[in-house]
Amino acid sequence: SSALRIALLGCGVVGTQVVRLLTEQAEDLAARVGAPLELVGVAVRDVDAPRDEVVPRALLTTDAADLVTRADIVVELMGGIEPARGLLLRAIEHGASVVTANKALLAQHGPELYQAADAAGVDVYFEAAVAGAIPLVRPLRESLAGDRVRRVLGIVNGTTNYILDEMTTKGLAFDDVLRTAQELGYAEADPTADVEGHDAAAKAAIIASLAFHTRVTLDDVACEGITKVSADDVAWATATGHVIKLLAIAELTDDGVAVRVHPSLVPATHPLATVGGAFNAVFVEAEAAGELMFYGRGAGGAPTASAVVGDVVSVARHRVLGGKGPDESRYADLPLAAADSA
Ligand code: HSE
Repeated sequence: SSALRIALLGCGVVGTQVVRLLTEQAEDLAARVGAPLELVGVAVRDVDAPRDEVVPRALLTTDAADLVTRADIVVELMGGIEPARGLLLRAIEHGASVVTANKALLAQHGPELYQAADAAGVDVYFEAAVAGAIPLVRPLRESLAGDRVRRVLGIVNGTTNYILDEMTTKGLAFDDVLRTAQELGYAEADPTADVEGHDAAAKAAIIASLAFHTRVTLDDVACEGITKVSADDVAWATATGHVIKLLAIAELTDDGVAVRVHPSLVPATHPLATVGGAFNAVFVEAEAAGELMFYGRGAGGAPTASAVVGDVVSVARHRVLGGKGPDESRYADLPLAAADSA
């Protein structure tokens, strides 16, 4: 059947790897989808900025608002709220399905996007928005939709897990590890969103929405980062058979859905305690399934691109075969426990 037109918004580390996968695996992807995937444009801020040769210069444009009207599938990797939000709503209005890795946008404006997509009969897919390469959105959204999830515990920020791991294994202080992590490029120049837990809180909101099929936004998440964790805290944790992890916790309590992010004492025998370095892992407790754990790389160009292109294949299949993915806008609103429950 005729080619599906793919538009890419943003072409940084992840976007470049998305272009690479779409190019190098074009034949395999076409076979899986049942139609070729044709990249029709890449919206960037500066067409003259240096970039990898895998990105065709002729496809670069600064006119994202026009590009989204010429595509069947819009892949958003710009990050931030605006202009990403406006562009995706415009894409949906023009009948495009949307794939995004934008956790901040989903954590704050997810319901608006889901409703617009439902009205237009198109998909919003976002596997890469939480825990990078790790298949987690689909398992929560689809595989476990027949079960009742009781609790989700996640290590969903690689930077803070790396810092806590270094503090634990080397007995170093927070500030020293952070400085080294920045020098090595593991931590952002402005590490606030990571070390204060904001990045994890956005992911926690998305995870809780999916796990409990309800609406949870960033405002509902109680959040404490790792800046106050001292070398003494870490030593005490080790001495008592624990590891300190920054956990995103979403659970069903008697008061409703409770969602929070804070440094937590994890028993050294728990599977989450073994998650080292910049890896992510999410531990799910469901009534019928029991305990599950999802583990892998939560960031990075190629791993995140794997999740993005997997979403492109899914929504492309719906375009070719008919049908549509799950619809977040139909879910019930469960009561939310007070956000100070941490
Ligand atoms: N800064 C994030 C992390 C990257 O450290 O996990 C992925 O959101």
